[in-house]
Amino acid sequence: MKKITSQSDYQQVYNESVEQPEKFWAEVAEDFVWRKKWDKVLEWDFHKPEVKWFVGGKLNITENCIDRHLKDKANQTAIIWEPNDPTKTSLHITYQQLHDEVCKVANMLKNNGVNQGDRVCIYLPMIPEAAYAILACARIGAVHSVVFAGFSSGSLVDRINDAGCKVVLTSDGSLRGEKKIDLKPIVDEALQNCPGVVKTIVFKYTNSKISMQAARDVWWHDEIKNTKPVCEPEVMDAEDMLFILYTSGSTGKPKGMVHTCGGYMVYSTYTFQTVFQYQQGQVYWCTADIGWITGHSYIVYGPLAAGATTVMFEGIPSWPDMGRFWQVIEKHKVNIFYTAPTAIRSLEKAPLSFVHQADLHSLKVLGSVGEPINEEAWHWYHEHIGRSQCPIVDTWWQTETGGIMISPIAHVTKVKAAFATFPLPGVQPAVMDEKGAELFLNGVEGRLTIKFPWPSMARTIYGDHQRFKETYFSTFPGKYFTGDGCKRDEEGFYRITGRVDDIIIVSGHNMGTAEIESAIDEHTAVCETAVVGYPHNIKGQGVYAYVICYEAPQDEEKLRTEIREMVSKVIGPIAKPDKIQFVSGLPKTRSGKIMRRILRKIAEGEMNNLGDTSTLTDPAIVDEIKNGAL
Ligand code: PRX
Repeated sequence: MKKITSQSDYQQVYNESVEQPEKFWAEVAEDFVWRKKWDKVLEWDFHKPEVKWFVGGKLNITENCIDRHLKDKANQTAIIWEPNDPTKTSLHITYQQLHDEVCKVANMLKNNGVNQGDRVCIYLPMIPEAAYAILACARIGAVHSVVFAGFSSGSLVDRINDAGCKVVLTSDGSLRGEKKIDLKPIVDEALQNCPGVVKTIVFKYTNSKISMQAARDVWWHDEIKNTKPVCEPEVMDAEDMLFILYTSGSTGKPKGMVHTCGGYMVYSTYTFQTVFQYQQGQVYWCTADIGWITGHSYIVYGPLAAGATTVMFEGIPSWPDMGRFWQVIEKHKVNIFYTAPTAIRSLEKAPLSFVHQADLHSLKVLGSVGEPINEEAWHWYHEHIGRSQCPIVDTWWQTETGGIMISPIAHVTKVKAAFATFPLPGVQPAVMDEKGAELFLNGVEGRLTIKFPWPSMARTIYGDHQRFKETYFSTFPGKYFTGDGCKRDEEGFYRITGRVDDIIIVSGHNMGTAEIESAIDEHTAVCETAVVGYPHNIKGQGVYAYVICYEAPQDEEKLRTEIREMVSKVIGPIAKPDKIQFVSGLPKTRSGKIMRRILRKIAEGEMNNLGDTSTLTDPAIVDEIKNGAL
């Protein structure tokens, strides 16, 4: 694989990757352990859509993430686990220990009836067992579906049933800052509506008092006791399913994005090495939760396949104080630090003394992911955390893309504040105008699509290929539509401007407005709801809900609290509306469609520039909403 060491190398490698993509990716894939080499690098048709990479190839991703490192790195730390409570001991898990633990969990799964192809739901806190569980599933060819442990029982039900999970791995509880959250009761509640689940394996962690249902629930420590630390990796087809991960849609239920073994492995590893320019021996820390794609690709699979030392942090940035991230960097001498703009914005508000108290000289590269990073946050991060010496890789990608798509390459390509800059080798973006024509020049703005496949792209939505086609391949036939808007400036730098559909990104979490609306509608007092995003100076976007009640509420504050609790119960606390405005009607067109454009403008505080409202059934409602805006 050709190393990229300068801007001109990048240009050359990029050009080669576009001119001969199959040759390019075959060379990258040579660096992995395959049980059988592929017969063909790529088969694709974006109209069907169907994409297959490394066709006929056989492998196991865990052999690449673990076994192949045992020759020379058995005693190197694979995972540094930093607990929630800084007074507790952190763990340094070597590649040998990782091997043994993953094999034990794999054997535990087999003993509990998990077979190749079965779906396993992982609902665990950020503890090493979550990483073991993911890798153990991959080792035996079971498909993991990790659900972020902040989601409620309702979200868990949808995800478990949609994927047809047979087994759930969970713990009694989790720790986040000062809070202890009991997870098992959430699972118990969910499983009342999940008839397909036959086994729950519970990791004892917080010692919370929980109930165990005979026959269904077993303790992890009992089940793992006599398992062997050896488990042969299952030989998988490159196109076998590796995992399902749910992401919000602009309509309907979350979409179970399907990722497959070969292409995902190659791409997550290649991009990890390329973007961060990871050097052997360095310590890398991505602060994401394992429940999101960032945790999958850039805490677990990518770094481990690259033989890196990856930090897994259980805690939160603000506890015991706002210096926690910086203390962890000093403690573990972190060289590469990858976090989200929302975290940067909240830490930026804290006194700088928190930053200055820690020695951050180990840092070489900074990363950002999950939402557009505003210039102010970019400069603060660059200056105060990176001592104006560390490049910031602003990485644009999605659950669907499986890996980073547009990003600077650390210390190699140019950076520009608030720009994701250039596509990585093998990635072919196309900016489209609203009519569907590609904009070839620089200095343009439009919708971001990708016109050629890359190895880690999602292959389908689990159980709903038609929805996959409609969501991603119908707006611009023959191209993958990202749902994002972007600019390409005069020099060819890409800047992602945000979603152009009804998805909002709150603190880096993707949420469908329709999903939040239907959660609010579950409150008995509520007749109809419209949810939009508005700019929020820490979360990036906040949730603004316009709510019509059957009767004017007697106590608005009380009802707001109840509505927030309802959303928390149905989806999870991350989706709670920041602002709830009670209204007597919504601006609708004669065909009954809510004009969200108007609601968005009002939520943004732009009262005077609402555009044409003449097609509304009741234009007067706009004034009422404007006057009551929060
Ligand atoms: O709108 C883009 C935004 O996050 C969306 C994908 O969210 P999700 O699937 O949860 O994955 C997040 C982690 C990869 C994108 O459609 N987004 C992600 N990264 C950036 C971004 N927007 C701007 N700049 C980024 N670096």
